[in-house]
Amino acid sequence: MSRSDTLLSVRGLRVGFAGVEVVRGVSFDVHAGEVLALVGESGAGKSLTARALLGMAPREATVSGDVLLGGSPVTPADWGRRIALVPQDALSALSPVHPVGDQLALALRSVRGMSRKDARRRAAAALEEVGIPAARSRAHPHEFSGGMRQRAVLAMALVNEPELVVADEPTTALDPETQDKVLGLLRERCAARGASLVLVTHALDVVREHADRMAVMYAGSLVEYGPVDRVLARPLAPYTVGLLASLPAVDGVPRTRLPVLPGRPPTPGELPHGCVFFPRCGRATDHCRTARPEPRSLDGREVACHHAAPESV
Ligand SMILES: Nc1ncnc2c1ncn2[C@@H]1O[C@H](COP(=O)(O)OP(=O)(O)OP(=O)(O)O)[C@@H](O)[C@H]1O
Ligand code: SF4
Ligand SMILES: [Mg+2]
Repeated sequence: MSRSDTLLSVRGLRVGFAGVEVVRGVSFDVHAGEVLALVGESGAGKSLTARALLGMAPREATVSGDVLLGGSPVTPADWGRRIALVPQDALSALSPVHPVGDQLALALRSVRGMSRKDARRRAAAALEEVGIPAARSRAHPHEFSGGMRQRAVLAMALVNEPELVVADEPTTALDPETQDKVLGLLRERCAARGASLVLVTHALDVVREHADRMAVMYAGSLVEYGPVDRVLARPLAPYTVGLLASLPAVDGVPRTRLPVLPGRPPTPGELPHGCVFFPRCGRATDHCRTARPEPRSLDGREVACHHAAPESV
C-alpha cells in the first residue's frame, strides 16, 4: 500500500536477459525526502534495479512491471530534471574534453533553457555547493582528484534539482574518509532540496549512518524491507541476519572469522525450487524446499521468509 508521501512506486519490477530473470518481481516505495538503501551480495540485482528505476536498463534487457514517479512512468525527458543517476565511476559521467563548469552549464541550458551567462553563474554556484571552488570550474575532470571528480558528478546530478537521486555505489572507488565525506555531502544536498535518495551500497555503516529505510535483495528479489533502525536491531530474514553479520564492522575489522553466509548465491536461471535461499539457510525446513515465501508484514517491515517471527530471533 502506498503512503500519501510516496514519490516513487515500484511494483512487480522484473528484468531478464534472454529469458532468464535476474530481477524477479521487486516492489517498494520511496517516500518524499527519504534515503532508501539497497543492499545485498554481488549479483543480487541491485544495479539493474537502480537503472530500471530510471528506465536505463541495458538495451538487451527485457523489463516489465510499474515504476511510477509522482504517479507517472519515468521517461528519458525526466532524466536529470526529475530523476538523476550518480554512477559508481565518476569518469564515465563526465566528458573528458570539456571543463566541468561548462558541462554543468550545458545541463542547465538544455533542461532549463537558461541563458549562457546565468547557466555559467549557476554552474559555479553548484560546484561551490559541493565544495569545489568556483575558480576551478574551468578545470577538466582529469585535473581533479578522485574525490573532487565524484563531487563534480554529484553537482551534475543535483544541478537541475531532481526529486529523486539514484546513486549506485557512488563512492566505492574512493578512500574511506573521502567516501564518508562525499556520501555525507550527497545526503545533505538531497535533504537541502527535499530530494529523495536511493543508495546502492555494500557498506553497513553507510546504511546505518545515511539511510532511513533499507531493502535487502537476494537473487533478484527483496527478502526484507523496512526502517533501518528496526532491521539492523532485529533482522528477521535469515539472509539479512547472515548478511549483516558478514559485513565488516565500522572499524573495518570483520565481526567474525566464521563464514556466516556459507555457499554462494544461485546462478540466475538455475534457482532452487521453493525458497531460493534454502541451500544456504540454517533454518530451512522441508516446507522451504517446495514453497516460495511471499513478502508479508511483520514487526514494522516486509519479510519474505516462512519462519521469520519476532520471537525467533
Ligand atoms: N547486460 C547483462 N547481460 C546479462 N546479464 C546481466 C547483465 N547485467 C547484469 N547481468 C546479471 O544480472 C545479475 C544482477 O546484476 P547486477 O549488476 O544488478 O548485480 P548487483 O547486485 O549490482 O551486483 P554488484 O554488487 O556486484 O554490483 C547478475 O547475475 C549479472 O551477471
Ligand atoms: S523461507 Fe525457509 S529457507 Fe527461506 S529464509 Fe526462511 S527459513 Fe530460510
Ligand atoms: Mg552493482
